[in-house]
Amino acid sequence: MMKILFLDQSGKPGGAELFLLDIAKPYRNNCLVGLFADGGFKKLLEQQEIPVQVLTNQVIKVSKESSLMEGLSSLNKLAPLINKVIKISQDYDLIYANTQKALVVGAIAHFFTHRPLIYHLHDILSLDHFSKTNRQIAVTLANRCASLVIATSQATKTAFIEAGGKPEIVEVVYNGFQSENYEIDESKINQIRQNLGIKQQFVVGHFSRLSPWKGQHILIEALTHCPENVTAILVGDALFGEEDYTQQLHKQVAELGLEKRVKFLGFQADIAPLMKACDLITHTSISPEPFGRVIAEAMLCKKPVIAAKAGGAIELIEHQKTGWLITPGNSLTLAEFINYCRQHPELSETIAQQAQIFARQHFELTTINQQIAQLLNQLMYSGEEMRKLRKEIFTADERK
Ligand code: UDP
Ligand code: GLC
Repeated sequence: MMKILFLDQSGKPGGAELFLLDIAKPYRNNCLVGLFADGGFKKLLEQQEIPVQVLTNQVIKVSKESSLMEGLSSLNKLAPLINKVIKISQDYDLIYANTQKALVVGAIAHFFTHRPLIYHLHDILSLDHFSKTNRQIAVTLANRCASLVIATSQATKTAFIEAGGKPEIVEVVYNGFQSENYEIDESKINQIRQNLGIKQQFVVGHFSRLSPWKGQHILIEALTHCPENVTAILVGDALFGEEDYTQQLHKQVAELGLEKRVKFLGFQADIAPLMKACDLITHTSISPEPFGRVIAEAMLCKKPVIAAKAGGAIELIEHQKTGWLITPGNSLTLAEFINYCRQHPELSETIAQQAQIFARQHFELTTINQQIAQLLNQLMYSGEEMRKLRKEIFTADERK
């Protein structure tokens, strides 16, 4: 079995990291996940017995606004990390970069060790999400160093190509999920509703880290256009330094007098039972969502879902068949659809059922893991990499 060095810049469990947890698992006897920060994600990997190592204690600060100079100076500080990765990668067959900073470090290691580099692109490389410089760095390194870019959706692939990425190196692979994890005992669901005091309410769920572009404020605003018994639960925490936004949301709730109708539940490790306790799930991102794990998870839970019509969400949902797609950032439209869903329970049930069938067909983890294994095998044992490998063996033989 091939040996893989996975690299990820985050110590916290965002969507890209939860994805990595699932795809690294089949390789756990032959892989290492190298992280650029400590945190809860490391614990999750350890729980699954996936080898993990935190490779640096240095905080790597490259923000959306950072310039090339700032980027280069942070590269300087990264020297110990880069050296470590170069050394470690010599024991592995390939380097799998799961985030942008992992791509930068992985590309340098690839340069020195010639280990094939794969870039899993979880981001839409548009100016909504990235500075021009950061986008340019990602595309240039991917084009020059990566043998393969795996894009999280067609939308992600298109944005990569539009930013100058080579079309011939990109493949789309969706996130995968174990559908049985989204089947929950009815008694547990009732218990949750009872404990949260939402037994009689129409419960709208929002499951996402608290971040301005995830648009929790749109849902809060929408509640003011819904009847009193419509309640929202916000599951998630600020993961990447967005504490100001958290404060802002609490302030908004207080100013609108919605304290009894909005519950902040913080980060929850096990979201399925909570999702099952909702009547409807909303996704309110105001910038295009690259994939949107929460949408797929809502579908697997057989819950109707309203999502912002942009990015990956458009591939996941067929409007009025497997959910509803609405204009991003519009709280009035969101309220209209919440009310519509509430007033049409039978239609909502049918939509949720169709969504569950679709999600089980398209996002089953075993299939997704097979797709990735196939891409990695093709890369390692055919074509370019094989030619390079043969050349290396041939030159070594000649030297004998
Ligand atoms: N999630 C979680 N606990 C929470 C909030 C979110 O486990 O309290 C999970 C959620 O179920 C989803 C992931 O975090 O699987 C977020 O991924 P998504 O693609 O929706 O967004 P991202 O944060 O990666 O942009
Ligand atoms: C990123 C994206 C999210 C996607 C996740 C997994 O964090 O923001 O949309 O679902 O990666 O690919």
